[in-house]
Amino acid sequence: MKKILYIDVCGRAESRTRILAQHLLTYLDGEVTCVDLFEEPVYPLNIEAIRQRRDCVECGSCDGQGLNLARQFADADIIVIAAPVWNLSFPSVLAAYCENVVEEGVTIHIDEYGNTTGLCKAKKFYYVTATGTRNMNPVFGFGYLKSLFSQLGVHSAECFSAEALDIPGADVDMILNICKREIDASFRFPAREDNQVEANVSTK
Ligand SMILES: Cc1cc2nc3c(=O)[nH]c(=O)nc-3n(C[C@H](O)[C@H](O)[C@H](O)COP(=O)(O)O)c2cc1C
Repeated sequence: MKKILYIDVCGRAESRTRILAQHLLTYLDGEVTCVDLFEEPVYPLNIEAIRQRRDCVECGSCDGQGLNLARQFADADIIVIAAPVWNLSFPSVLAAYCENVVEEGVTIHIDEYGNTTGLCKAKKFYYVTATGTRNMNPVFGFGYLKSLFSQLGVHSAECFSAEALDIPGADVDMILNICKREIDASFRFPAREDNQVEANVSTK
């Protein structure tokens, strides 16, 4: 069974971004592990954590800060990230998560000439987002993750976005439905009709 890693950076219980991500997940076949970045203790790296992580990778038998997240990321077959646009990109805890995920010998190898080789199994990640206003610049959020994850070996990426949800008078249901139809159209096969996604979700 494929391992689907679902990174939830939505925060709010009623998040529209999460509604869209759940819709996308119905198309993916496999066991879904959900990591909720507003629930998990994910901290930015400091110098001590960087040193400790190196020691742990080299000895191979212990866990430095966030190395479990890096190993989990490397081992996933498909990655789904759901994050609303905050300050033109995404909630900062996702940047902290990325710091934790990138580690020499776990998700990336950099040779003596500076060439990088990705060590992750996943070939593709999906990014689901929502904005409050118009004219979001996707470079700061999706574009950044695309470049970073490509260095880790995840070369294919697809973004689904529902925009301008907070503008007065916005027809939120219609905007979400349009985005759901875009998700539908990008998959060539029909959504699973059972509710296996709910049943298979585990948290880690
Ligand atoms: C801290 C914060 C920062 C935000 N920054 C932006 C922004 O830069 N651009 C934008 O269009 N919307 C911004 N928004 C609005 C959210 O992107 C918008 O409400 C989105 O639909 C939230 O999705 P949700 O329903 O999944 O929470 C921001 C919201 C918050 C709470």
